[in-house]
Amino acid sequence: MTPKPYTHRDAVPYRPLDWTGVQPPVFAPGSVPAHVAIVMDGNGRWANRRGLSRVEGHKAGESALLDVVAGAIQAGVTHLSVYAFSTENWSRSPDEVRFLMGFNRDVLHRRRDQLNEWDVRVRWAGRRPRLWGSVVKELQHAERLTQHNRTLTLTMCVNYGGRVELVDAMRGIADDVAAGRLKPSAVTEKLIGRRLYVPDMPDVDLFVRSSGEQRTSNFLLWESAYAEYVFLDTLWPDFSREHLWRAIDLYQSRDRRFGGAVDKPGPTA
Ligand code: FPP
Repeated sequence: MTPKPYTHRDAVPYRPLDWTGVQPPVFAPGSVPAHVAIVMDGNGRWANRRGLSRVEGHKAGESALLDVVAGAIQAGVTHLSVYAFSTENWSRSPDEVRFLMGFNRDVLHRRRDQLNEWDVRVRWAGRRPRLWGSVVKELQHAERLTQHNRTLTLTMCVNYGGRVELVDAMRGIADDVAAGRLKPSAVTEKLIGRRLYVPDMPDVDLFVRSSGEQRTSNFLLWESAYAEYVFLDTLWPDFSREHLWRAIDLYQSRDRRFGGAVDKPGPTA
């Protein structure tokens, strides 16, 4: 397929999937996490260390995201969820909030064709109230454009918070119970999962945070109940597909037991 050049005014050039020419390590079959969640942290520090304003760090984070999406596809990851704006981010300065809203809108606008060509399905997880209408419009446009793509599902978590996601789900369930549409005994883990923002989102296998901070910051709380956590020191604008592959490598060394346990006799047991 011939790559299409960008025409948008802020265009960062179109890039084919393998523009770096770097190939992922050979991962053992079946060992690649299906769903990777990423907290893209450290933009502000990256910028401030260079004497720049925080928004310059967010700008630099765009190509890191695109590189990581490409690396996820190369590695065989099928779901990637990224924390682009949290329900707590509204407490930042009005200037930064305004920038982040406009930036989310513009990134979606200028990258949707590229993501579509990469066979990426874009989805949105988050709350509608307060979110700029223009951001919602771009999210919905990208969702419609890419709805039949299957190689990778990229969930943009915008105005997302893990606790409010559960609050919204519980309110819907409580309404149904109060109206007699649902019996309390029918409320199961499966049913709650179906009331979340993206009902068919699989559980997170690997949860990655950049920048050296070791917190979950209210990201995908329900979905990450059995995720493996990897914290890397690299600030998000310096993050690349190779960092993702390093995180996958660390994930593969973990022993996931999901609460079960078996005897492993021997000196290292
Ligand atoms: C956290 O870094 C980052 C954000 C709140 C914004 C995330 C946005 C990007 C990574 C840009 C990519 C673009 C899109 C639209 C997905 P921080 O500001 O908390 O950094 P700090 O911890 O160093 O202050």
